[in-house]
Amino acid sequence: MCECLETIFKKFKGKEEELIPLLQSVQEEAGFLSESAMRDIAKFLRIPQSKVHGVATFYAQFRFKPKGRKHIMLCRGTACHVKGAPRILEEIENHLEIKEGETSADLEHSIESVACIGACSLAPCITVNNKVHADLTPQKIEALFNKRMN
Ligand code: FES
Repeated sequence: MCECLETIFKKFKGKEEELIPLLQSVQEEAGFLSESAMRDIAKFLRIPQSKVHGVATFYAQFRFKPKGRKHIMLCRGTACHVKGAPRILEEIENHLEIKEGETSADLEHSIESVACIGACSLAPCITVNNKVHADLTPQKIEALFNKRMN
């Protein structure tokens, strides 16, 4: 077991009802939930690994792959959708050669979609490492990825 997990486990009592806060703490520290982390959590709580896996996969908040150094969140909310979010996603996927939900092999980029990033009047928009890029067009995506991200 890695040292960071041991440090996290010390903050918990090892009770089954701590499963979700424990998963949240591990993800906050590691950025995602690895198979080995979920195995160690199961041992710590003395519950089957399948239960840890079942709970973790039920909730959209948990990730099972690491984020890229440049993490892109694409808004799929109504305002963004109406103003062309699907085309924006297609453009990003083409540029990065990864699909939504994936992380590039070099861990440079990852793409995730979210229900709304809270900037609806600036639709369509994305965030890259929490910085909002608004009023996007396919041309702006091309410029963004060619000039600033590569
Ligand atoms: S709908 Fe896209 S930011 Fe709200």
